[in-house]
Amino acid sequence: MKDFEVGDILPAREAIAMLNEVDLAPPIEIPAIPVEADEANISDAERAWLHKEIKRLKKERNALVLAHNYMPKDVQDAADVIGDSLYLAKVGTESNADVLVEAAVLFMNQILAITKKPHQKVLAPDLGALCSLAATADVEKIRAWKREHPDGVVISYVNTYVEVKAESDYCCASANAAKVLLHVLEHEKGKPILFLPDVYLGYYAAKLVEKQGVSLDLLWLMMGACHVHDAIRPHHVEEQRKLHPGAAAVIHPECGCTSACMRQVSEGGVAEEMMQFRSTQGMVKFAAESKADTIIVATEVGNLYPLSRAVPDKKFVPASREAVCAFMKQNTLRNLYLSLRDMKHEVTVDPELAAKALRPIKRMLDIV
Ligand code: 13P
Ligand code: SF4
Repeated sequence: MKDFEVGDILPAREAIAMLNEVDLAPPIEIPAIPVEADEANISDAERAWLHKEIKRLKKERNALVLAHNYMPKDVQDAADVIGDSLYLAKVGTESNADVLVEAAVLFMNQILAITKKPHQKVLAPDLGALCSLAATADVEKIRAWKREHPDGVVISYVNTYVEVKAESDYCCASANAAKVLLHVLEHEKGKPILFLPDVYLGYYAAKLVEKQGVSLDLLWLMMGACHVHDAIRPHHVEEQRKLHPGAAAVIHPECGCTSACMRQVSEGGVAEEMMQFRSTQGMVKFAAESKADTIIVATEVGNLYPLSRAVPDKKFVPASREAVCAFMKQNTLRNLYLSLRDMKHEVTVDPELAAKALRPIKRMLDIV
């Protein structure tokens, strides 16, 4: 097998051939999860007080609190808006609130810091909320690929920092990855495409490219993965399908089981309506529309809370209970309160990089 490092850029065919054999270990340390991220470790009295104070401060500061679907329950309960990365970017960008407090991970805060209006401040409850997938994308490797492919088109997934977005032509989120790719295939015909940094989402992109009758030779992928989703393997989904006969499965395309599960569907092993690939929020629509009473959910376990709130008559089981993102869980009810009280931690981006990153971000927001 060819040697490579996490973050290397390879022709799609080579990257896909190695998918299930490679170790995509994260290039950054995974932090410990604060004890209060578990709602059982906060007393009812403290919780009630924090909720009351957060409500008061939101009004006083004219603040909007946005929370990603993976947030601890307490944080979701305090939020005005809950959703996937694309939805939070859209609502945050459209908001006129003076303060945008986003309980998520830094790359999502950065999007709001790039698109914000001059009077707005963007706050993050904790600056340690990073992302193992975003950490894999190396700007120098992207620049080298662009030098070798002067007519190339770079599509970067939303899980990237501003430096990478500034080198990109398009951004996409899991909710609109297929649409953005189809747009590029139609409007940038015949050009080489680099899709980064997630190799499983890259596999999903490759299947789409092939379906459109475009040569896979045009597609390049980065060997990156999210450590939480990479660990959700085909056997996890299979075990849950055996334990819950008749259950449908909904899978985030960042999962380590994506390629095997997509193959199962395309080869007819599982009916299409019983196994689908969706963003965290797209899973809600799937669950509401599915005929199955039980849904196996292959993503970070935090997403089970919004799912069961939105579709209370269905049973949701995680493909893996160990799928916990310690980065997302750095946000807690306590530091959300402190963020509003002390107006911290303000997220800012270099204006030159922000100006370059704005175009691909706008394209992501427009192609829906
Ligand atoms: P969504 O856009 O589906 O919310 O995914 C973001 C993310 O970080 C998944 O791990
Ligand atoms: Fe990043 Fe994975 Fe956490 Fe999502 S779940 S924020 S991709 S580390």
